[in-house]
Amino acid sequence: FTPQTLAGKRVIVTAGGTRERLDPVRFLTNDSSGKMGYAVAAAAQQAGAKVTLITAPTGLSAPSGVDIVNIQSTTELATAVLDRFPNADVLVMAAAVADFQPVTVADQKIKKTADNDEMVLTLKKTPDILKQVAAIKQPHQVTVGFAAETQAVLANGQKKLADKQLDLLAANDVSRQDIGFNSDDNQVTFIMPDGVTDQTPKTSKRVIAQALVSRVATILAAK
Ligand code: PMT
Repeated sequence: FTPQTLAGKRVIVTAGGTRERLDPVRFLTNDSSGKMGYAVAAAAQQAGAKVTLITAPTGLSAPSGVDIVNIQSTTELATAVLDRFPNADVLVMAAAVADFQPVTVADQKIKKTADNDEMVLTLKKTPDILKQVAAIKQPHQVTVGFAAETQAVLANGQKKLADKQLDLLAANDVSRQDIGFNSDDNQVTFIMPDGVTDQTPKTSKRVIAQALVSRVATILAAK
Protein backbone atom coordinates (compact mmCIF):
# COMPACT_ATOMS: atom_id res chain seq x y z
CA PHE A 1 0.00 0.00 0.00
CA THR A 2 1.71 3.18 -1.20
CA PRO A 3 0.19 6.67 -1.50
CA GLN A 4 0.02 6.55 -5.30
CA THR A 5 -1.37 3.02 -5.70
CA LEU A 6 -4.65 4.28 -7.21
CA ALA A 7 -3.48 7.65 -8.58
CA GLY A 8 -5.96 9.06 -11.09
CA LYS A 9 -8.46 6.22 -10.66
CA ARG A 10 -12.15 6.92 -10.05
CA VAL A 11 -13.47 4.74 -7.26
CA ILE A 12 -17.07 4.37 -6.04
CA VAL A 13 -17.61 2.90 -2.58
CA THR A 14 -20.98 2.13 -1.00
CA ALA A 15 -21.51 1.98 2.76
CA GLY A 16 -24.11 1.55 5.47
CA GLY A 17 -27.41 -0.26 5.74
CA THR A 18 -30.21 0.63 3.36
CA ARG A 19 -33.58 1.68 4.79
CA GLU A 20 -36.79 0.32 3.29
CA ARG A 21 -39.74 2.48 4.32
CA LEU A 22 -43.01 1.09 5.61
CA ASP A 23 -44.62 4.45 6.32
CA PRO A 24 -43.50 8.05 7.06
CA VAL A 25 -42.05 7.10 10.46
CA ARG A 26 -40.86 3.48 10.11
CA PHE A 27 -38.41 1.50 8.04
CA LEU A 28 -36.70 -1.91 7.80
CA THR A 29 -32.91 -1.88 8.04
CA ASN A 30 -29.95 -3.92 9.33
CA ASP A 31 -27.01 -3.58 11.72
CA SER A 32 -24.50 -1.98 9.32
CA SER A 33 -22.68 0.99 10.86
CA GLY A 34 -20.93 2.03 7.64
CA LYS A 35 -17.49 1.61 9.24
CA MET A 36 -16.21 -0.93 6.68
CA GLY A 37 -17.25 1.13 3.65
CA TYR A 38 -15.97 4.41 5.13
CA ALA A 39 -12.61 2.72 5.81
CA VAL A 40 -12.43 1.55 2.18
CA ALA A 41 -13.27 5.07 0.95
CA ALA A 42 -10.54 6.57 3.17
CA ALA A 43 -7.97 3.98 2.06
CA ALA A 44 -8.75 4.54 -1.63
CA GLN A 45 -8.52 8.32 -1.15
CA GLN A 46 -5.16 7.93 0.61
CA ALA A 47 -4.03 5.75 -2.31
CA GLY A 48 -4.59 8.70 -4.66
CA ALA A 49 -8.01 7.84 -6.08
CA LYS A 50 -10.88 10.24 -6.72
CA VAL A 51 -13.48 8.68 -4.43
CA THR A 52 -17.26 8.91 -4.39
CA LEU A 53 -18.82 7.44 -1.24
CA ILE A 54 -22.48 6.56 -1.68
CA THR A 55 -23.79 6.16 1.82
CA ALA A 56 -26.89 5.18 3.70
CA PRO A 57 -27.45 7.11 6.96
CA THR A 58 -24.64 6.44 9.46
CA GLY A 59 -23.28 8.19 12.53
CA LEU A 60 -19.88 8.61 10.86
CA SER A 61 -18.19 11.73 9.57
CA ALA A 62 -17.13 11.76 5.94
CA PRO A 63 -13.47 10.93 5.22
CA SER A 64 -11.72 14.08 4.03
CA GLY A 65 -11.36 14.60 0.31
CA VAL A 66 -14.18 12.18 -0.57
CA ASP A 67 -17.37 13.15 -2.46
CA ILE A 68 -20.48 12.09 -0.56
CA VAL A 69 -23.79 10.97 -2.07
CA ASN A 70 -26.54 10.30 0.49
CA ILE A 71 -29.12 7.61 -0.16
CA GLN A 72 -31.62 5.72 1.96
CA SER A 73 -33.32 2.88 0.09
CA THR A 74 -31.92 0.12 -2.10
CA THR A 75 -33.73 1.66 -5.06
CA GLU A 76 -31.97 5.01 -4.43
CA LEU A 77 -28.64 3.21 -4.00
CA ALA A 78 -29.17 1.35 -7.28
CA THR A 79 -29.86 4.61 -9.15
CA ALA A 80 -26.86 6.35 -7.58
CA VAL A 81 -24.51 3.47 -8.45
CA LEU A 82 -25.80 2.82 -11.97
CA ASP A 83 -25.67 6.57 -12.87
CA ARG A 84 -22.01 6.82 -11.85
CA PHE A 85 -20.58 3.40 -12.65
CA PRO A 86 -20.01 4.06 -16.40
CA ASN A 87 -17.48 6.79 -15.44
CA ALA A 88 -15.73 4.77 -12.73
CA ASP A 89 -12.73 2.47 -12.76
CA VAL A 90 -13.63 0.63 -9.56
CA LEU A 91 -16.80 -0.13 -7.59
CA VAL A 92 -16.59 -1.51 -4.04
CA MET A 93 -19.99 -2.53 -2.63
CA ALA A 94 -19.53 -2.60 1.14
CA ALA A 95 -23.11 -1.44 1.80
CA ALA A 96 -25.44 -3.88 3.52
CA VAL A 97 -28.23 -3.88 0.99
CA ALA A 98 -31.74 -5.03 1.83
CA ASP A 99 -32.78 -8.12 -0.10
CA PHE A 100 -36.49 -7.31 0.29
CA GLN A 101 -38.55 -4.12 0.38
CA PRO A 102 -42.23 -3.50 1.23
CA VAL A 103 -44.55 -3.91 -1.76
CA THR A 104 -46.39 -0.75 -0.72
CA VAL A 105 -45.28 2.26 1.31
CA ALA A 106 -48.10 3.78 3.37
CA ASP A 107 -48.63 7.54 2.89
CA GLN A 108 -49.74 7.92 6.49
CA LYS A 109 -48.51 6.32 9.70
CA ILE A 110 -49.85 2.76 9.92
CA LYS A 111 -52.29 2.57 12.84
CA LYS A 112 -52.94 -0.33 15.16
CA THR A 113 -56.58 -1.26 15.44
CA ALA A 114 -58.51 -2.84 18.29
CA ASP A 115 -59.32 -6.03 16.36
CA ASN A 116 -55.86 -6.79 14.88
CA ASP A 117 -53.27 -8.46 17.12
CA GLU A 118 -51.08 -9.36 14.13
CA MET A 119 -50.12 -7.60 10.95
CA VAL A 120 -48.57 -9.08 7.83
CA LEU A 121 -45.98 -7.23 5.78
CA THR A 122 -45.68 -8.21 2.14
CA LEU A 123 -42.15 -7.77 0.79
CA LYS A 124 -40.69 -8.09 -2.69
CA LYS A 125 -37.11 -8.65 -3.81
CA THR A 126 -34.97 -5.56 -4.26
CA PRO A 127 -32.95 -5.05 -7.45
CA ASP A 128 -29.57 -6.82 -7.26
CA ILE A 129 -27.27 -3.86 -7.89
CA LEU A 130 -24.09 -5.84 -8.54
CA LYS A 131 -25.91 -8.08 -11.04
CA GLN A 132 -27.14 -4.99 -12.90
CA VAL A 133 -23.60 -3.60 -12.83
CA ALA A 134 -22.25 -6.90 -14.23
CA ALA A 135 -24.47 -6.42 -17.29
CA ILE A 136 -22.88 -3.05 -18.17
CA LYS A 137 -19.34 -3.67 -16.91
CA GLN A 138 -16.50 -2.86 -19.34
CA PRO A 139 -13.28 -4.91 -19.44
CA HIS A 140 -11.20 -2.18 -17.76
CA GLN A 141 -13.56 -1.88 -14.78
CA VAL A 142 -13.06 -3.65 -11.46
CA THR A 143 -15.98 -4.67 -9.25
CA VAL A 144 -15.61 -5.79 -5.65
CA GLY A 145 -18.33 -7.22 -3.44
CA PHE A 146 -18.59 -8.22 0.18
CA ALA A 147 -20.49 -11.30 1.34
CA ALA A 148 -22.15 -11.10 4.73
CA GLU A 149 -22.63 -14.70 5.81
CA THR A 150 -23.61 -16.51 8.99
CA GLN A 151 -22.75 -20.01 7.70
CA ALA A 152 -20.74 -21.69 4.90
CA VAL A 153 -18.90 -18.37 4.49
CA LEU A 154 -16.48 -19.57 1.81
CA ALA A 155 -18.95 -21.57 -0.29
CA ASN A 156 -21.57 -18.79 -0.22
CA GLY A 157 -18.90 -16.20 -0.99
CA GLN A 158 -17.67 -18.17 -3.99
CA LYS A 159 -21.23 -18.42 -5.31
CA LYS A 160 -21.74 -14.64 -4.95
CA LEU A 161 -18.44 -13.89 -6.71
CA ALA A 162 -19.54 -15.99 -9.69
CA ASP A 163 -23.19 -14.81 -9.77
CA LYS A 164 -22.19 -11.13 -9.65
CA GLN A 165 -19.14 -11.58 -11.95
CA LEU A 166 -16.83 -9.87 -9.47
CA ASP A 167 -13.07 -9.39 -9.69
CA LEU A 168 -12.75 -9.74 -5.93
CA LEU A 169 -15.00 -10.64 -3.02
CA ALA A 170 -14.42 -10.13 0.70
CA ALA A 171 -16.43 -12.67 2.69
CA ASN A 172 -17.05 -11.95 6.37
CA ASP A 173 -18.74 -13.95 9.11
CA VAL A 174 -21.49 -11.68 10.44
CA SER A 175 -22.57 -14.14 13.12
CA ARG A 176 -19.61 -13.00 15.23
CA GLN A 177 -19.90 -10.02 17.58
CA ASP A 178 -16.19 -9.12 17.44
CA ILE A 179 -16.06 -8.61 13.65
CA GLY A 180 -18.47 -7.80 10.81
CA PHE A 181 -21.41 -5.52 11.58
CA ASN A 182 -20.71 -2.48 13.72
CA SER A 183 -17.37 -3.51 15.31
CA ASP A 184 -14.13 -1.65 14.65
CA ASP A 185 -12.43 -4.88 13.54
CA ASN A 186 -13.06 -7.36 10.80
CA GLN A 187 -11.64 -10.56 9.40
CA VAL A 188 -12.32 -11.35 5.77
CA THR A 189 -11.52 -14.08 3.30
CA PHE A 190 -10.58 -12.57 -0.04
CA ILE A 191 -11.88 -14.76 -2.85
CA MET A 192 -10.52 -14.39 -6.38
CA PRO A 193 -12.20 -15.54 -9.62
CA ASP A 194 -9.53 -18.23 -10.14
CA GLY A 195 -10.64 -19.86 -6.89
CA VAL A 196 -7.68 -18.69 -4.82
CA THR A 197 -8.66 -17.59 -1.32
CA ASP A 198 -6.74 -15.69 1.33
CA GLN A 199 -7.92 -15.13 4.90
CA THR A 200 -6.74 -12.02 6.71
CA PRO A 201 -6.05 -12.01 10.43
CA LYS A 202 -8.62 -10.26 12.62
CA THR A 203 -7.55 -6.63 12.52
CA SER A 204 -8.94 -3.11 12.23
CA LYS A 205 -11.29 -2.25 9.39
CA ARG A 206 -8.70 0.38 8.43
CA VAL A 207 -6.06 -2.32 7.80
CA ILE A 208 -8.57 -4.62 6.03
CA ALA A 209 -9.53 -1.68 3.80
CA GLN A 210 -5.88 -1.02 2.92
CA ALA A 211 -5.40 -4.70 2.03
CA LEU A 212 -8.48 -4.53 -0.19
CA VAL A 213 -7.22 -1.39 -1.93
CA SER A 214 -3.82 -3.04 -2.56
CA ARG A 215 -5.56 -5.99 -4.20
CA VAL A 216 -7.71 -3.68 -6.33
CA ALA A 217 -4.56 -1.89 -7.54
CA THR A 218 -2.98 -5.22 -8.52
CA ILE A 219 -6.13 -6.29 -10.37
CA LEU A 220 -6.32 -2.92 -12.20
CA ALA A 221 -2.66 -3.13 -13.20
CA ALA A 222 -3.25 -6.57 -14.75
CA LYS A 223 -6.29 -5.44 -16.82
O1 PMT B 1 -21.01 -1.35 8.04
P1 PMT B 1 -20.26 -2.15 9.09
O2 PMT B 1 -20.95 -2.10 10.43
O3 PMT B 1 -18.80 -1.76 9.16
O4 PMT B 1 -20.31 -3.70 8.67
C1 PMT B 1 -19.63 -4.12 7.51
C2 PMT B 1 -20.46 -5.14 6.71
C3 PMT B 1 -20.65 -6.43 7.52
C4 PMT B 1 -21.83 -4.55 6.35
C5 PMT B 1 -19.64 -5.38 5.39
O5 PMT B 1 -18.37 -5.91 5.70
C6 PMT B 1 -20.39 -6.32 4.44
O6 PMT B 1 -20.33 -7.54 4.55
N1 PMT B 1 -21.10 -5.72 3.44
C7 PMT B 1 -21.97 -6.46 2.51
C8 PMT B 1 -23.32 -6.70 3.15
C9 PMT B 1 -24.26 -7.39 2.18
O7 PMT B 1 -25.23 -6.82 1.71
O8 PMT B 1 -23.87 -8.64 1.85
P2 PMT B 1 -24.72 -9.66 0.94
O9 PMT B 1 -23.99 -10.95 1.10
O10 PMT B 1 -26.17 -9.62 1.29
O11 PMT B 1 -24.55 -9.12 -0.54
C10 PMT B 1 -23.45 -9.48 -1.36
C11 PMT B 1 -22.97 -8.29 -2.17
O12 PMT B 1 -24.01 -7.88 -3.09
C12 PMT B 1 -22.61 -7.07 -1.34
O13 PMT B 1 -21.45 -6.49 -1.89
C13 PMT B 1 -23.85 -6.18 -1.48
O14 PMT B 1 -23.49 -4.81 -1.36
C14 PMT B 1 -24.35 -6.53 -2.88
N2 PMT B 1 -25.82 -6.44 -3.07
C15 PMT B 1 -26.67 -7.06 -2.20
C16 PMT B 1 -28.04 -7.00 -2.41
C17 PMT B 1 -28.53 -6.28 -3.54
N3 PMT B 1 -29.84 -6.17 -3.77
N4 PMT B 1 -27.66 -5.69 -4.40
C18 PMT B 1 -26.31 -5.79 -4.19
O15 PMT B 1 -25.51 -5.27 -5.00
